[in-house]
Amino acid sequence: MEKRNKVFIASSIDGYIADKNGGIDWLQSVPNPDHDDMGYNSFINEVDALVMGRNTFETVCGFDIDWPYSKPVYVLSRSLSSIPDKFQDKAELLHGELREVLSYIHAKGQNRLYIDGGGTIQSFLREGLIDDLILTTIPIILGDGIPLFSKIETQLEFELVETKLFLNQIVQRHYRRKIHF
Ligand SMILES: NC(=O)c1ccc[n+]([C@@H]2O[C@H](COP(=O)([O-])OP(=O)(O)OC[C@H]3O[C@@H](n4cnc5c(N)ncnc54)[C@H](OP(=O)(O)O)[C@@H]3O)[C@@H](O)[C@H]2O)c1
Repeated sequence: MEKRNKVFIASSIDGYIADKNGGIDWLQSVPNPDHDDMGYNSFINEVDALVMGRNTFETVCGFDIDWPYSKPVYVLSRSLSSIPDKFQDKAELLHGELREVLSYIHAKGQNRLYIDGGGTIQSFLREGLIDDLILTTIPIILGDGIPLFSKIETQLEFELVETKLFLNQIVQRHYRRKIHF
């Protein structure tokens, strides 16, 4: 099966994925009475596994909810020596070169990957390893916070696949990497 690394993330108009205190309450700032998931479940159904940064993993671990993922989760960290006991059966810790990390995951037959967390997405982009970006823009300017993007050395070209409008307020753009042969 084709290998693809996909991002599905919400940001503010000014490109932050969490506010300056790491808060994400503003993601719910548009009233959503029918709990529209804005494509999240169908996206998740189409990936084989998640690769997330330590900060995103720790944020999810801190939520007062059941473990939200039914797919394998790989956590990238150079500082963690192990996954906390409570989450041992939920996630696997990985570190090393991204291409080695990907080879390890692909060897398990998991080829379509959901890449999550700002720093993690940035490290994949830096190495030209993101194929799809599904960006959901919440109509708020946070002014400061945890950024989705950072400087990278090489330009990456994408083409727009689709734009959707949710709740008459939230725009979601799906970009696919243009590959030049
Ligand atoms: N708006 C949304 O839809 C959305 C989605 C996801 C997350 N978030 C929010 O975003 C915040 C987390 O984002 P974040 O930018 O702080 O980063 P993150 O990607 O979740 O975590 C960054 C950490 O991941 C590890 N890491 C990243 N790339 C690595 C690599 N190539 N090799 C080894 N380790 C690597 C490092 O951990 P070590 O320092 O341990 O080495 C790094 O400090 C949280 O507040 C979360 O709630 C928002």
